[in-house]
Amino acid sequence: MAAGLLAAVLLAGSVALSALAAGPLPGQIKNLVTFGDSYTDVDGHADGGIMWPVFAAKDGNFNLFPFAKSGATCSNNLTARPFPSVFESQLPTFFAEKANGSLKLNPEETIYTLWIGTNDVGVGALLTGSQTPGVTIVDTVACAVNWVTVLYASGARNFIFQNMIPLQTTPLYSADSYPSRYWTAQRNTTEWSVFMTELTTSGNEIAKLMLQALAPTLHGAHIGLFDSHSLFADMFARPQLYLNGTAPLNVTGAVHACVFKLNESTSDPGVCTDATGTDQDSFLWFDELHPSVQAERVVAKAISDVIHRKTEKWTTWLS
Ligand SMILES: *[C@@H]1O[C@H](CO)[C@@H](O)[C@H](O)[C@H]1NC(C)=O
Ligand SMILES: *[C@@H]1O[C@H](CO)[C@@H](O)[C@H](O)[C@H]1NC(C)=O
Ligand SMILES: *[C@@H]1O[C@H](CO)[C@@H](O)[C@H](O)[C@H]1NC(C)=O
Ligand SMILES: *[C@@H]1O[C@H](CO)[C@@H](O)[C@H](O)[C@H]1NC(C)=O
Ligand SMILES: *[C@@H]1O[C@H](CO)[C@@H](O)[C@H](O)[C@H]1NC(C)=O
Ligand SMILES: *[C@@H]1O[C@H](CO)[C@@H](O)[C@H](O)[C@H]1NC(C)=O
Repeated sequence: MAAGLLAAVLLAGSVALSALAAGPLPGQIKNLVTFGDSYTDVDGHADGGIMWPVFAAKDGNFNLFPFAKSGATCSNNLTARPFPSVFESQLPTFFAEKANGSLKLNPEETIYTLWIGTNDVGVGALLTGSQTPGVTIVDTVACAVNWVTVLYASGARNFIFQNMIPLQTTPLYSADSYPSRYWTAQRNTTEWSVFMTELTTSGNEIAKLMLQALAPTLHGAHIGLFDSHSLFADMFARPQLYLNGTAPLNVTGAVHACVFKLNESTSDPGVCTDATGTDQDSFLWFDELHPSVQAERVVAKAISDVIHRKTEKWTTWLS
């Protein structure tokens, strides 16, 4: 009797504790729902192969529900691009599937991820002044953070917010960049790199502060801030810890690197150098803008490990 009561008290205590503790419990999460852009789009294969959500689902034994779409920004109201944005396309599709019963997900067993920003801050958007007049990095980041609020209101409880990588280290935005399929017009590559450093660094700091303020207001939510920025900075600085191909390790070039002429049409093929076979795993980048398959494997492992609480490396649970 007394032992039963004690067990009941302990059980109640541990349930209360798990509701208050930061992050989901190991083994709790069974479903992975992904939002974002080409870094996450499983059909776009922007890394030239398998994308991180597929690796993560396999590593962590999750059912995958992929909503990310190549080219996406957070909202086309802010940075208009002819691609399915998170707010005007990906979330509406998710809510439509939920409403018509084709998507049934237990909130406790489901985690939602968002990796967005690359297209909001890049060419055709903030970097080139192509956004809706008056829009700044504050608005695009607030939009991304609002993704948590909107999903929470619909019943979602577990979230991972993946911040922006140091885009200034991609071949497209580095100081010694060359004309590529993403941009062939004249530009000052030093100025682009300097501005991109400001955008990714300040945008990530704004996101962190906004999420820290938001987390305590969303009762029962678990919000993880995944520091893609630090992870990619470490891969760039210490590639020997992550890259394992048979070519010399390479964090400045790309598996599929295509050099264009100044002002050449971006629909031309360019003059390409391609790494093949096991050489590909020596590269951080697949092309001038996208991570390689090996980099995506590293992201996948880090995400699946943190969801199952095997390590807290690269992630801070804010709630
Ligand atoms: C985008 O603009 C439309 C029309 O003004 C508005 O209804 C919608 O709420 C806006 N979406 C976002 C994410 O701001
Ligand atoms: C549910 O909605 C989604 C998104 O609009 C659609 O693709 C799907 O066919 C719908 N399914 C049913 C059973 O109506
Ligand atoms: C490019 O911008 C940098 C930084 O503002 C400046 O120092 C450099 O002179 C510029 N280069 C050219 C070719 O204008
Ligand atoms: C590199 O490591 C990954 C696991 O992270 C493995 O799947 C891949 O086959 C390895 N690549 C090579 C060329 O050995
Ligand atoms: C890195 O890859 C590029 C191709 O994108 C190549 O031109 C360059 O020589 C490589 N660098 C090293 C150190 O192998
Ligand atoms: C590229 O285009 C710009 C703007 O039209 C022009 O000023 C420049 O001379 C062109 N350069 C080349 C090499 O075609």
